[in-house]
Amino acid sequence: HEEPLPSAGSLDDSLAFLREGYGYGGRRFSRLRADGFRTRLLGRTTVVMRGREAAEAFSAPDRMSRGSAIPASAMHLLQDEGSVQSLSGVAHRHRKRMFLELLDDEYAERLAERFAADWAEAVSAEAGRTVSLAELCSRVLTKSAVAWCGIPVRLVEVDRLAERLGAMVEHAGHVGPRNWLARARRRGVERWAAEAVTASRTGRLAVPSDAPLSIVARQTGADGALLDAGTAAVELLNLLRPIVAISRYLAFSAHALERHSGWRKALRSDAEARLDFAQEVRRWYPFFPGVLGTATAPFEWHGHRFEPGDRAMLDLYATDHDPAEWTQADDFEPGRFLGGAPGGPLVPQGAGDVASGHRCPGEGATVAVMTRFLALAAAEPAPYSVPDQDLRISLRRVPALPPGGLRVRLRG
Ligand code: HEM
Repeated sequence: HEEPLPSAGSLDDSLAFLREGYGYGGRRFSRLRADGFRTRLLGRTTVVMRGREAAEAFSAPDRMSRGSAIPASAMHLLQDEGSVQSLSGVAHRHRKRMFLELLDDEYAERLAERFAADWAEAVSAEAGRTVSLAELCSRVLTKSAVAWCGIPVRLVEVDRLAERLGAMVEHAGHVGPRNWLARARRRGVERWAAEAVTASRTGRLAVPSDAPLSIVARQTGADGALLDAGTAAVELLNLLRPIVAISRYLAFSAHALERHSGWRKALRSDAEARLDFAQEVRRWYPFFPGVLGTATAPFEWHGHRFEPGDRAMLDLYATDHDPAEWTQADDFEPGRFLGGAPGGPLVPQGAGDVASGHRCPGEGATVAVMTRFLALAAAEPAPYSVPDQDLRISLRRVPALPPGGLRVRLRG
């Protein structure tokens, strides 16, 4: 049986991946003229794949488990044992239903409403100051997320929680001391979240019954038994942490608005333009480089045979920049979404079916907050100005951000 997928050609690509960041896959796909290649990454043979067919193959229901594919250093910051991402089959579907219920359009809209109110308050509290927009948005979103979950904001030290939730995303890609420190601090946040779950269950904390915290606290496993408080806490953090991470997309949105200011007027008045702009921000800007999975059953892709336990990485960034799918893939052009056949699939938050696979259940909430932010940021008079600064974003640094989180001067 001849191996149809090319090899990346080096003994081990882990260092190359760390050094090249988001560009790692793309460079090799074009050098090898292939949508998949074999390599060794983070201690294991891995097939790296991009494009429409790769996304479909990788995302077929129950084909690729996530838990064992992710290095423990990242796993313990981003997901942790017992979380929806570590589950598969019936148990996964059961847990995933909960996320879909509490992240539907109505909940997404509630989050965007809170964000708009908290943003207005922060902008007037810090009027005249020059701040990191990413940092400001992460504090604002922490407050919004806490309240949206059903936890009274006065019981929470918002700035400290913002810093800790942010560190989980910031250090997931690191190994060694910075990662250990972030993991130790994550355990502190987990204890806090477990207390919130227990307080909600015992009624010590009065939480509205339709609030996400109540729903998580009431959640049972596929066996019908109430989740233990630790697992429920992990899922509560699976809401709070990524909501705060939307701050990265808000900094990118502001960056795009600065670079493509011709869109300001349309963004003020036209909801469709805001949606197209937000989608292009999600396509063009780097967030998660890829998702790792381990085959649970044999299958073939492009002639390559996967056996159970084999690892693959769907390169999200390269798929969203795939020249075979997107015209002028490297140009930022929200207009490509006008009229409905932009190319695709658009996969910054994973691919495939959201209910039966691991695709992110938070896409609606992410887009709702982004479009709300775009309306606020493009408003007249502008809520902030952008002082002269280096606007180049390095694709080598994972996770990426504009330098300094984008410095902005809030309206005085
Ligand atoms: C899963 C990206 C926002 C909750 C994922 C995955 C990615 C992702 C790449 C993995 C998909 C896979 O394994 O195939 C993002 C990005 C976001 C974001 C870039 C922007 C900030 C959110 C939000 C929430 C959320 C706002 C909830 C409030 C989750 C959960 C999973 C997940 C619970 C695990 C789903 C499963 O395993 O079935 N996300 N996400 N994410 N995301 Fe997001």
